[in-house]
Amino acid sequence: MNASAGKIEQLQYQSGFGNEFASEALPDTLPQGRNSPQRAPRGLYAEGISGTPFTAPRSQNRRTWTYRMRPSAMQAAMVRVDNGLLRSAPFNEVDAPPNRLRWNPLPIPDRPIDFIDGLTTMGGGGDVSAGSGYAIHVYLANRSMTRRYFYNADGEMLIVPQQGRLDLFSEMGRMEISPGEICVIPRGIKFNVSLVDGPVRGYICENYGALLRLPDLGPIGSNGLANARDFLTPVAAFEEIDGPVQLVAKFQGNLWSCNLGHSPLDVVAWHGNYAPYKYDLANFMVLGTVSFDHPDPSIFTVLTSPTDTPGTANIDFVIFPPRWMVAENTFRPPWFHRNYMNEFMGLIYGTYDAKAEGFTPGGASLHNCMSAHGPDAATFEKASVADLKPHKIDGSMAFMFETRLVCRPTQFALETPLLQSDYDACWGGFKKHFSSAP
Ligand SMILES: [Fe+2]
Repeated sequence: MNASAGKIEQLQYQSGFGNEFASEALPDTLPQGRNSPQRAPRGLYAEGISGTPFTAPRSQNRRTWTYRMRPSAMQAAMVRVDNGLLRSAPFNEVDAPPNRLRWNPLPIPDRPIDFIDGLTTMGGGGDVSAGSGYAIHVYLANRSMTRRYFYNADGEMLIVPQQGRLDLFSEMGRMEISPGEICVIPRGIKFNVSLVDGPVRGYICENYGALLRLPDLGPIGSNGLANARDFLTPVAAFEEIDGPVQLVAKFQGNLWSCNLGHSPLDVVAWHGNYAPYKYDLANFMVLGTVSFDHPDPSIFTVLTSPTDTPGTANIDFVIFPPRWMVAENTFRPPWFHRNYMNEFMGLIYGTYDAKAEGFTPGGASLHNCMSAHGPDAATFEKASVADLKPHKIDGSMAFMFETRLVCRPTQFALETPLLQSDYDACWGGFKKHFSSAP
């Protein structure tokens, strides 16, 4: 446990996925033996936060008790504020095209913007009011959130940094997240974002559905893919700031705001299993074929948000990390395919092995339900005659938000000049090699 008061300088974490954590920024703050004493220690207020219905099965139940300087209920009415380019499902601004789409990276503007200002929605599916579906955003920021705090009542936020480190201070403590790591901020948890080393850009999957969890491993067994011990949750830390601050909420697709007389990050101790966490993608234990062919990309699933239909995810977060390719007699890049599931891809760094060019770090591609795609012509020609000695795909980290719900683009996503108008052309150069001769 961290024994220093205020904003801790040394970042500390506790490991495990969905564990029942207990953490104190000051010693002897958590009540012992009884969760709700008549008077909480140190004059604090006890406040519960439930991330699932009370009666969710125990294995999925998430809740945390916070011990804080003031109850969160001490808050004025919120008023609507401008959504900027933030949108929520259902996405009906424009018709969803069946076309393959690809975008250049969104530039970080020169005008001052923080993490909230720079939220730009690319698309999504489902319905936020039904608690089903998701939205995909890009975040851009060139300054820290100053005396400004945010929470999202619509869903949890899976944050995938692509450029720049984030200092993310939430009610449960501080985390630093670098490109190559991800973090998840649960629904409703208040936080702010400071920049560590300059402007930042990254991707966010806002998950309205069931909380992200580790996938079942089936015949893989008890080890492999993302291991629970590599997930890190912050230890308790608080800031004691009086004076006006702004609290911004995302609620039913819109941004709302009110002023508070103090920082909401005033939790001195907490216990529970509902808390932000981060994960270093380098810790992913990659599995793949050691004979021929390739498994489906579901073998690379880090986290999944399941639905009531078995095997049909609201969201799968899938990565394409550095790994050895050893398959014999095999076209090693992903083959051509048309899928039920919908694929939004991003690139954190490096070069993705199925595309020769055009898919750059910070950019994105979208291949929706039954829209044909696969390697471009240059990659096909090269991989068809490649010498199949063991080869390591290195220095690259692509990812996919894969979902059962068609990703319906926003008007911004379809009208921005960053949308590559010539994307279809990358599949235009295939030669006909067929011959009826034996
Ligand atoms: Fe695909």
